[in-house]
Amino acid sequence: MRKPIIAGNWKMNKTPCEAKELVESLKPLVCDAQCDVVVCVPAVNFAAVAEAAQGSNIRLGAQNMHWKESGAYTGELSAAMLRASGVEYVILGHSERRQYFAETDETVNLKTLAAVAAGLTPIVCVGETRAQREAGYTDALVAYQTRIALTGLTGEQVEKIVIAYEPVWAIGTGLTATDEQANETIGVIRRAVADAFGETVAANIRIQYGGSMNPKNAHGLMMQPEIDGGLIGGASLKAADFAQVVHFER
Ligand code: PGA
Repeated sequence: MRKPIIAGNWKMNKTPCEAKELVESLKPLVCDAQCDVVVCVPAVNFAAVAEAAQGSNIRLGAQNMHWKESGAYTGELSAAMLRASGVEYVILGHSERRQYFAETDETVNLKTLAAVAAGLTPIVCVGETRAQREAGYTDALVAYQTRIALTGLTGEQVEKIVIAYEPVWAIGTGLTATDEQANETIGVIRRAVADAFGETVAANIRIQYGGSMNPKNAHGLMMQPEIDGGLIGGASLKAADFAQVVHFER
């Protein structure tokens, strides 16, 4: 059985003070969670969130990192820096990073390898645009993105990472994939993992859905057999909403 994982993606929101406040409000609301609970926050909030979350079941995540260990990469952060700041998870290849910061499947692969080598758990994002879905490319595209991102990892490493299926057209738009659409495409991603790494690895890897997931639709999505969690943007910025998603089973 795969343990569900609900992760918040705060994106470019919250100052350290606001971050501390949000985590303090969240703690009592999610302390009895049956799933893994992660908040992926801006790097300036690592210290505040690590301190506020100490001793709780809330784990700290980042939203990006560089694949090199150190060097002349102005503005970038290494996996070791994240680790030393209490970070355990890192979102890689989010569609906003691909769209606005020119990330490619190849750089997502380099980052995934570096994150795993440093002991971080990557949350690797894949997903199609509306035009790609309408053209019928969704399955081929998500399978390709998945295969490239995981190239060079062992099966043992792959089964510990997290993949997030995020249809680009559903992110921040209020449009959610239907439960069945999300389940079906996550099934395609799981098959791509099986083809490359075998059935056991595919059965163990956790694959989240992301894209306008909220307290209202979380239950339906999470009841789908292929969906092991959620990557939550907008609804992760309010403690009550995020806690309701965490308690999707209610
Ligand atoms: P959203 O964002 O929940 O606001 O659609 C999800 C994401 O981008 O990870």
